[in-house]
Amino acid sequence: MYLEEITLTSRIADYKVIFSRTSDFLEKYMIDPNTVFIVDEKVWETHSEGLLKNLPKSEIILIQTHEEMKTLESVQNLYDKIMERAPKRNMTMISIGGGITQDITGFTASTLYRGIKWVFVPTTLLAQADSCVGSKTSINYKKYKNLIGTFFPPQEIYINTAFVSTLNDVDYFSGLGEVVKLHLLGGERSVSKLIQLLPSLIEKKDDALLAAIQDSLLIKQSYIESDEFDTGRRNMLNFGHCFGHAIESATQFAIPHGQAVVLGMILANIVAVKRGLLSETKYHYFNQVLFPIIKVNLEDVSFKINEIVDAMRQDKKRTGKELALVMLIDNYEAIKVNDLTTEEATNVLQEFYEGNIMRRPFS
Ligand SMILES: NC(=O)c1ccc[n+]([C@@H]2O[C@H](COP(=O)([O-])OP(=O)(O)OC[C@H]3O[C@@H](n4cnc5c(N)ncnc54)[C@H](O)[C@@H]3O)[C@@H](O)[C@H]2O)c1
Ligand SMILES: [Zn+2]
Repeated sequence: MYLEEITLTSRIADYKVIFSRTSDFLEKYMIDPNTVFIVDEKVWETHSEGLLKNLPKSEIILIQTHEEMKTLESVQNLYDKIMERAPKRNMTMISIGGGITQDITGFTASTLYRGIKWVFVPTTLLAQADSCVGSKTSINYKKYKNLIGTFFPPQEIYINTAFVSTLNDVDYFSGLGEVVKLHLLGGERSVSKLIQLLPSLIEKKDDALLAAIQDSLLIKQSYIESDEFDTGRRNMLNFGHCFGHAIESATQFAIPHGQAVVLGMILANIVAVKRGLLSETKYHYFNQVLFPIIKVNLEDVSFKINEIVDAMRQDKKRTGKELALVMLIDNYEAIKVNDLTTEEATNVLQEFYEGNIMRRPFS
């Protein structure tokens, strides 16, 4: 059974995720003269003759989506291009692309005229299964990732899984890393369901994708609706990200985000086992049946433990003297601690690296 839509409540304005097997939903926006389409250049190249073939070409603004482009300068360029078009406050921006397109257009929509309507059509697995809900928009500033941002949900989100079929493997499996994370946070039943879907997900089968995306969004919904502004329970979505972000930055982003999150979950699980919070049985179970789906190639990556720990110390979400860590405990509940010592983090990384633990789950 698939859902047709999910409604999310928000303190800003409620919004809907609508699932569609076609691009017909774009039609009502195509005939509206106050609409502008902001489209990822690569998505346009890939789908201009297919899923996006009816978009009015004169109303499209193409944007490039490298992480280095997620800047205030890109937002300013977008303001300029929109202002060249006799804009109106009642205009709607339709954003078509992955998480970077979402962040640039969402931030622009939230600040232009103090907020104009926007609609999001996510085209990557990460954006469809995770980032499209939650109302955050974020821009990088100098070397600081996602430093500047707002809470401003789109009015509607349209998900067509057909977009995902053209993603490259790196982006696909990176998105799958977040799907695995959300299912672990969803509890035992979600994990068993995901395990059954894994063979079809590896083959990128459409029905399996739709099921995994819908469950991921419902699980994320349960974390964000009670804590939209990220002061408590929503922090648990950071599972895998405490070590994960540090691994990404210490390896100069040689490891893609979703893969780094998987390594981060394995590391957090080791800490949880050592602290007696997670059984060895579950730890091995996750390593054997769940994590190997994400292919992590560490052969060519220089993995410097002290640099990873330094990066953890610089984490913007850190508040106390020691390091913060979200862990999954034995009953599939997530907890956040603020007392991970540098020594404990170093030991776990050493054990992980030197004990060859990262190869074992993937062999
Ligand atoms: N706002 C939020 O709540 C939130 C949450 C999580 C992540 N993010 C942000 O999202 C970004 C990562 O998102 P992403 O992984 O979607 O990245 P992305 O937008 O860069 O897309 C990844 C790559 O896939 C290409 N692409 C997109 N759709 C495609 C398709 N259908 N077929 C072929 N290629 C396609 C893009 O051109 C790009 O090269 C990061 O900047 C991260 O900070 C935001
Ligand atoms: Zn993430």
